[in-house]
Amino acid sequence: MLAPTPPMGWNSWNTFGPDVSARVVMETADVFVREGLKDAGYEYLVIDDLWEAGERVDGHLSWDARKFPDGIKAVADYVHSKGLKFGLYSCAGSHTCAGMPASYGYEEVDAQTFAEWGVDFLKYDFCYAPPGVEGPTLYQRMGQALRATGRPILYSICEWGSNKPWLWGAKAGGHMWRTTGDIVDSWESIVDIGFRQQVGLEPYAGPGHWNDPDMLVVGMYGKGNVARGGCSDAEYRSHFSLWCLQAAPLMIGCDVRVMRPVTRETLLNREAIAVDQDPLGRQGYHVGSIDHGGETAAVWARPLEDGSVAVGLFNLGERESRLMVVGWESIGLHDRRPCTVRDLWAHEDLGTFTSNFTTRVNRHDVALLRITPVAG
Ligand code: GLA
Repeated sequence: MLAPTPPMGWNSWNTFGPDVSARVVMETADVFVREGLKDAGYEYLVIDDLWEAGERVDGHLSWDARKFPDGIKAVADYVHSKGLKFGLYSCAGSHTCAGMPASYGYEEVDAQTFAEWGVDFLKYDFCYAPPGVEGPTLYQRMGQALRATGRPILYSICEWGSNKPWLWGAKAGGHMWRTTGDIVDSWESIVDIGFRQQVGLEPYAGPGHWNDPDMLVVGMYGKGNVARGGCSDAEYRSHFSLWCLQAAPLMIGCDVRVMRPVTRETLLNREAIAVDQDPLGRQGYHVGSIDHGGETAAVWARPLEDGSVAVGLFNLGERESRLMVVGWESIGLHDRRPCTVRDLWAHEDLGTFTSNFTTRVNRHDVALLRITPVAG
């Protein structure tokens, strides 16, 4: 099965947009190995839109020769030589969102091309869809074409939640599907996409098929293609924690060649990644919010394979800090059951508690906890 746990990797769009190139991808592959991203589980390097030539060549998609002087296969070969996997982008309409040639009417030809180039992951967008054809039908077509190549290609559906892809994405062959429009590098975007628009989608995710709240903006700090002012370290930490609780694909969007130490710590937090990659594959859910006087706090929880529960206590309000509490019953644990509590950012055991746990959470920050019932 492809994607037994949420896919992890990097995508060129958030930072590079039109400036993606063979050089950027190859240097990113080097950094993945050198900085331990590969060892932590990040695997797919995906080239997003604007890799294409402006016209098809003999009916086939081709590449922008200024950005990819040796073609796409050469980049795929390089990525494979580092023990990583290679992804590419196309679109279900006549053109990609950036206006380049896309796969409508060429699904089988293009799938074959991707397979020949060594593509392991296809992100398939939804711009310029022909009128009169249902979205799910278009996605079904490419899903079938990918399967017909015989190459295992992870299929990433990107139709922004327009036709509720959580209801049909897996049947169309999808391994993940975007549930919303595009994320940008701002706290407002993280709150809107992550905290508001994912509520209630947890029944639809599981091994082999995941909800995708879009790529990470962790570590962008206001630089790059989708930069909109940037976020604080705490805000990126909250963003990463929420995505892990939601069993979201973890596709890095920053320039890993120039990561700050805190970005490295965030993206390489093995205990948070273990939550994301938990083999049970159950997506976390919104336990509740406290909302009074404009002060907002949210609690999310995710049941894990070993019987423990991962919990995020998020202070979304503007107050410097606030006390937050999680009660055992609200996360499916017995009220009188003693449980150990571990802080997954401090990497510290906090002790054994019964009934509930209270802690102070700073503005826009998170307490990410692993709550484990004591045996016996
Ligand atoms: C759409 C997608 C983005 C990105 C761009 C590329 O907006 O949702 O993730 O792929 O197209 O043009």
